[in-house]
Amino acid sequence: MTKSQFPNDFLWGGALAANQCEGAYLAGGKGLSSVDLLPTGDKRRNIMKGDVPAFTPLEGEFYPSHEAIDFYNRYKEDIALFAEMGFKALRVSIAWARIFPTGEEVLPNEEGLQFYDDLFDELLKHNIEPVVTLAHFDVPVALIEKYGSWRNRKMVELFEVYAQTVLKRYKDKVKYWMTFNEINMLLHLPFLGAGLVFKEGDNVKEIQYQAAHHQLVASALAVKACHELIPDAMIGCMLAAGSFYPYTCNPDDIFQGMEKDRESYFFIDVQSRGEYPGYAKRFFKDHNLNIVMESGDAELLKNNTVDYIGFSYYSSRTTSTDPEVQKNMTSGNVFGSIANPYLAKSEWGWTIDPKGMRITANQLHDRYQKPLFVVENGYGANDVPDANGEINDDYRIDYLKRHIAEMGEAIEDGVNIIGYTSWGPIDIVSASTGEMKKRYGYIYVDRDNEGNGTLKRSKKKSFAWYQRVISTNGVDLEG
Ligand code: BG6
Repeated sequence: MTKSQFPNDFLWGGALAANQCEGAYLAGGKGLSSVDLLPTGDKRRNIMKGDVPAFTPLEGEFYPSHEAIDFYNRYKEDIALFAEMGFKALRVSIAWARIFPTGEEVLPNEEGLQFYDDLFDELLKHNIEPVVTLAHFDVPVALIEKYGSWRNRKMVELFEVYAQTVLKRYKDKVKYWMTFNEINMLLHLPFLGAGLVFKEGDNVKEIQYQAAHHQLVASALAVKACHELIPDAMIGCMLAAGSFYPYTCNPDDIFQGMEKDRESYFFIDVQSRGEYPGYAKRFFKDHNLNIVMESGDAELLKNNTVDYIGFSYYSSRTTSTDPEVQKNMTSGNVFGSIANPYLAKSEWGWTIDPKGMRITANQLHDRYQKPLFVVENGYGANDVPDANGEINDDYRIDYLKRHIAEMGEAIEDGVNIIGYTSWGPIDIVSASTGEMKKRYGYIYVDRDNEGNGTLKRSKKKSFAWYQRVISTNGVDLEG
């Protein structure tokens, strides 16, 4: 058999987020989370951007996170299926509001803590390594109402308490941690990324970068706590990655591509290199942004950098300075990309670019020289069961196969990649649209966009395919 490109201890698996799978949104003492205020339908996008009509769910709207796929009650059945596929790792997130329902309790909520204890035990029983994100798009709503969420420095202290609580509690069970999911999302969907709500007259940019500073400090404090409490663990950052391609070789396009990449790299430059890059300082100055930093922040950032770079990769992005070209944007892309004429798109308008995985991984490696972890990648599609009830998701297999192959090439290029957790190994709620029909799973869940269905789980064709990929350590991508 051909020699594997992947290291023997490569962490193959899948990735989930609490709010997109757990459901049970107020069970076990959990408080309301920001994401519990995101309905399906037209209003969702504006709310994610920070135009939030109320801090309570509204009559007549459907909120998919409230029940999601009921992972909270069915995780044993689901983990057994992940184990059958041979998973070495499962990425999950802890819902902050399960641990501190209003974010400010003196004592954590024991029922919430116990839930994750049981979840991690179940994973470990199957030899699946838990990879845990501290914040995956959620903030206790009480903190949004009281402090305006991450625009307020108070959040740093409260997050530190939360992070320390869970790090201490799970120190013997969890050895891979991540601070903020897709931290750069804050600039694109600020309510989703950081619970930010805007009112008339707000200096939106300044608030966003102030909130970013608070998250970066909170992230460094979590790294510090993790290193102190669990010396044998690794803690990383998490970037929504996908390099920007200039549309032409016009230097203006090239420069714009660089600037667009830097908009995202900015976060990781701070988290991984430990200081604000010069281009960020210039940006603040040019835009007259007054970002308040406390004494001691610079030192804290410098001394507590991440151990690895976690990133999601779904597609590359394309940019141009030409107003005519700019008219041709792809739909569905939060990061505002021009359609790349060389590449196809998914049903939701997401560009499909396997080679971009290799390019992005190489660029991150060149820039940071730290281990990389691909913690999200996948193909959202509307799977329809055939007459026999089977789902032959060859399109998904094709997407994943080509991306894994390019990841293998990146490893051959000398990039140190420690694992691959594909997004939504079981169908879950879509973050951007709230739909159930935008499915990523190897396992189908019987539930529709309106919340109807039995929640029954069944294997898709890709289930056996991924099982084979894992059992051959990435050698057999044909299945
Ligand atoms: C990432 C998020 O942006 O992409 C996930 O970290 C999300 O939470 C995933 O689900 C896929 O996006 P979507 O909108 O198709 O669910």
